[in-house]
Amino acid sequence: MLQGNPLRIIEEKFWEEKSFMKRNPNAFLKEEYEELVKNSFDWKLRILETGSAPHSVVDGKEVVMLCSNNYLNLSNHPRLIKGAVNAAKKFGAGSGSVRAIAGTMALHMEVEKRLANFKGTESSLIYQTGFAANAGLIPQLAGKGDIIISDELNHGSIIDGVRLTKADRAVYKHCDMGDLERVLKDADTKKYNRILVITDGVFSMDGDITPMDKIVKIAKEYGAMTYVDDAHGEGVIGPDGRGIGAHFGIQGKIDVEMGTFSKAFGVVGGLIAGSQDLVNFALNKSRTWLLSGSHPPAVAGAQLAAIDVLETEPKHVKNLWDNTNYFKKELKNMGFDTGHSDTPITPVMVGESSKAKELSNGLYDEGVFALPIVFPMVARDKARIRTMMNAGLTRKDLDFALEKFEKLGKKLDII
Ligand SMILES: Cc1ncc(COP(=O)(O)O)c(C=O)c1O
Repeated sequence: MLQGNPLRIIEEKFWEEKSFMKRNPNAFLKEEYEELVKNSFDWKLRILETGSAPHSVVDGKEVVMLCSNNYLNLSNHPRLIKGAVNAAKKFGAGSGSVRAIAGTMALHMEVEKRLANFKGTESSLIYQTGFAANAGLIPQLAGKGDIIISDELNHGSIIDGVRLTKADRAVYKHCDMGDLERVLKDADTKKYNRILVITDGVFSMDGDITPMDKIVKIAKEYGAMTYVDDAHGEGVIGPDGRGIGAHFGIQGKIDVEMGTFSKAFGVVGGLIAGSQDLVNFALNKSRTWLLSGSHPPAVAGAQLAAIDVLETEPKHVKNLWDNTNYFKKELKNMGFDTGHSDTPITPVMVGESSKAKELSNGLYDEGVFALPIVFPMVARDKARIRTMMNAGLTRKDLDFALEKFEKLGKKLDII
């Protein structure tokens, strides 16, 4: 009798018998997955059994959370939960349509008004996600006869947005303003119609901040448009977490400030902030915005509450930075290399991928959840544990985590 999964056996027999067919259309699914597994490049999902909180239960174990993007712990804030519940009760579970047809509710408009005010810009527009904002807007800003100039370490969603354009592309060295100017000069001589300079605000692997004030200045000299993805800066940097424009005192001077509600704001949703001309253009042209359903009322209700909280409770941003500064300082004192982060993203450099994985597994066993970032996400010898700080962690939690880092760092010869 045949042993094993009956469906698999039937499938294998089917293909044996059908060997006269040109090809097996699905074979690559299994082959490519197995290749990923063989190289340890596959994602092994960790399951949260609680909300994403400073103390979460992950795969059945209570852990101190050090890898969530919920920087301000707003996803658990009673005002956000109330905002979501009340909006759902009043307006229902779904919006019923894309924004452009029948899916724009007064709530969505209110979020955009409040967000523009928070960001100090003339207008703003909410997308379904940050990824949808980059994938939908970037291809409309540049096309044939134009050029997009990117920082070499830009986020994947920017890269995909750029890939959807017919524009020429150029890359400048990470945060290197001399190199940006060199590329701009070259683009200028080639007589492109439009030049778009695009960068992350806070780089998610290293936690460094791009010199946006300098980028704006140089870009202006060459008549280039500036676009910043501030996904990790919104709610984190600048006074009261108003983002990169406020951080550098250049509010309203960046042509496109893009961001997300999925990280420090504790909800979900992409955003752009800028001029009314930008918003009019973006909502009429971005295919992701035009052709995909709008946020359910609960999402918009929670977004509104998140803006309220940021405007009225400065303690969350302050706690985040107090925790960050303490944690970074103590890690450095222990002898860890924390790279060149300027933000609550603190990489703990390890080097070899296998060692970074060992450190992460050891931390989890000890009750600390912090994931490794390894090749191909970073260079082969630059594997690290990427810690993300949370405003809701107490000094006791941080000392607990630090003690585990020290113990394992010594055991694995990292410090
Ligand atoms: C730099 C950056 N941009 C964009 C995104 C996408 O944001 P969202 O989660 O809202 O799609 C992310 C999230 O991983 C990010 O880190």
